[in-house]
Amino acid sequence: MRHIPGAWSRAARGAGLLAPDGTAVATIFAEMSALAVSTGAINLGQGFPDEDGPAVVLETAREAIAAGANQYPPGRGIPDLRAAIAEHQERFYGMVLDPEREVLVTAGATEALAATLLALIDGPEDEVVVFEPYYDAYAACVALAGARLVAVPLRRPDFQPDLDDLRRAVGPRTRLILVNDPHNPTGAVFAPEVLDEVVRLAERHDAVIVTDEVYEHLVFDGAHTPIAAREDARSRTLTISSGGKTFSATGWKIGWVSGPADLVDAVLAVKQWLTYVNGGPFQPAIAVGLRLGDEFFRDMAAAMRAKHDLLGAGLRTAGFDVIPPRGGYFTVADSSRVCDRLGVADADALCRILPERAGVAAIPLTAFVTAEHRAEYATLVRFAACKRVDVIEEASGRLAALAG
Ligand SMILES: Cc1ncc(COP(=O)(O)O)c(C=O)c1O
Repeated sequence: MRHIPGAWSRAARGAGLLAPDGTAVATIFAEMSALAVSTGAINLGQGFPDEDGPAVVLETAREAIAAGANQYPPGRGIPDLRAAIAEHQERFYGMVLDPEREVLVTAGATEALAATLLALIDGPEDEVVVFEPYYDAYAACVALAGARLVAVPLRRPDFQPDLDDLRRAVGPRTRLILVNDPHNPTGAVFAPEVLDEVVRLAERHDAVIVTDEVYEHLVFDGAHTPIAAREDARSRTLTISSGGKTFSATGWKIGWVSGPADLVDAVLAVKQWLTYVNGGPFQPAIAVGLRLGDEFFRDMAAAMRAKHDLLGAGLRTAGFDVIPPRGGYFTVADSSRVCDRLGVADADALCRILPERAGVAAIPLTAFVTAEHRAEYATLVRFAACKRVDVIEEASGRLAALAG
């Protein structure tokens, strides 16, 4: 095979995201989705909803297309969406933002993350502290930005980090602390003392805090509190979110980043050379979504919680030990007893036979961790609960067969 050089392949090889010969490493997500298709299994691996979001949001996008909103929107995003994002942050979190300077629309949360890392990383000595397991794009974006990833493990029973681990991870080289709250894949919601420590450490080492809050409206007990809503954190925090999860429109890729104008400008300086803009007709639709009444947001969280409860009950019947999530799309379960019964070594091996054996596909948690910490997560499996109730019921029924 031809050797294809490039900054990305160099960085990605270093981070284990490409094979030494430069070929792509097949992700477990692609592998499990392909297995799901070939076996006819229900795919609880990938985190996308199988139901549409609010009709008014979909209709607004249709109308925008019909009305000709099909060309490049402004570089920062259409004014109405930026205003809706600012209104949303004030309504839910009491944060006042200038939609002209402090809000930037991006191609999903993923582009916001990538542009933020590329904008704020200075060189190979810079470190980015993340909590692991982590959304897989984090390692890829950190590699692309040429920085070093420093992972702080989230620990059972409730997937909070050990504060001493966190203190050891953050130091003079820390450029960014990346916090995903509510958390994918564990379903954790960070305890206030963890967020306090993040803010304290960021201040002490003059690091920027970047928060990924794409599951902000999927907190099952109490309300979400963004780090940026804390007075002492606001000036050094960039808040990232997306309409994908909240409005069941993951394919639209409308995300945003908000925070101090100088940091947002730095992100814009990169973003304008990545996608420049995206999703013209979807931007007004997400603006309508963000202005929906409180009951929409309440009902959505309650419905997702009910799905987790249903899935959790099915997993328990099948012999898994469920760690109930406090937010987000995913339920994590310990598969030790199921692995023993089926004679497989760990969750990775289990997930490879589950589609054939039980007609359900899921992802081992080791897919979201650095090699160093794999053993700690070896028995854990992530199941997506963001599916129709009848699909979860069918999956539960299939998994129950594992219990013999
Ligand atoms: C934690 C987290 N951040 C970001 C994303 C991606 O968001 P978007 O589709 O808006 O790029 C996901 C999607 O799974 C996620 O789980």
